[in-house]
Amino acid sequence: MEDFEKMSAQEVIGWALKKFGSKVALASSFGAEDVVLIDMMVKIDPKARIFSLDTGRLNPETYDVMDKIRDKYKITIEVMFPQSESVEKMVRAKGMNLFYDSIENRKECCSVRKVEPLNRALSKLEAWITGLRRQQAVTRTTVPKVEVDSAHNNMAKINPIADWTSEQVWAYIKKNGVPYNILHDKGYPSIGCAPCTRPVKPGEDERAGRWWWENPETKECGLHVKK
Ligand code: ADX
Ligand code: SF4
Repeated sequence: MEDFEKMSAQEVIGWALKKFGSKVALASSFGAEDVVLIDMMVKIDPKARIFSLDTGRLNPETYDVMDKIRDKYKITIEVMFPQSESVEKMVRAKGMNLFYDSIENRKECCSVRKVEPLNRALSKLEAWITGLRRQQAVTRTTVPKVEVDSAHNNMAKINPIADWTSEQVWAYIKKNGVPYNILHDKGYPSIGCAPCTRPVKPGEDERAGRWWWENPETKECGLHVKK
């Protein structure tokens, strides 16, 4: 058995691409971590698969970086949309900005707009790659580089930069000239949907701007939960 914790990010990605081939894909939100992983993956295998969940509520800057990355690396981004009927039903019943009303509503919106499309994407894969890092949140301090994802049919979940700091992420981006979301230059260390993300103040936690009205223990949208 490989000792993944001792392996570099590139070694972990190389291992995953070799083992799972077209049955592994990166889940990319085009945040700083994910653009690093795209650069690494494409350099190892230009055909490596990348998918993205377009909730319909992303910032324009996120669409800009998606296209910049698409053009630079000449890759296909497998964009997943939510089921239109589910979104229609939800917003007719609860309004466009239901997420501010309660944690239940916020989770319902994340479930319709992110979790269902994620599950659909994962159902055709044997493994997925993410940009999770241990330093990002109290909910992520024990993230391993490779794990069995019990919330998703025991498929493999690969987190190649789990042990990286934010400084390492930015050093890689600068050194390799990787396109990134310009919201990062405007005080957003972590970027999700537009209505649920705001800039952080100096000294604040890196995910303090995500669902800022909730407390840190509840701040996972359902993409990264344990069963
Ligand atoms: S979230 O669960 O709170 O939204 P975060 O923004 O920190 O997650 O991102 C962690 C990882 O989840 C990303 O590196 C990426 O692998 C995956 N991810 C998050 N949002 C998306 C998205 N919209 N599309 C695809 N993958 C995503
Ligand atoms: Fe809905 Fe906000 Fe979740 Fe995006 S982050 S899916 S807008 S609740």
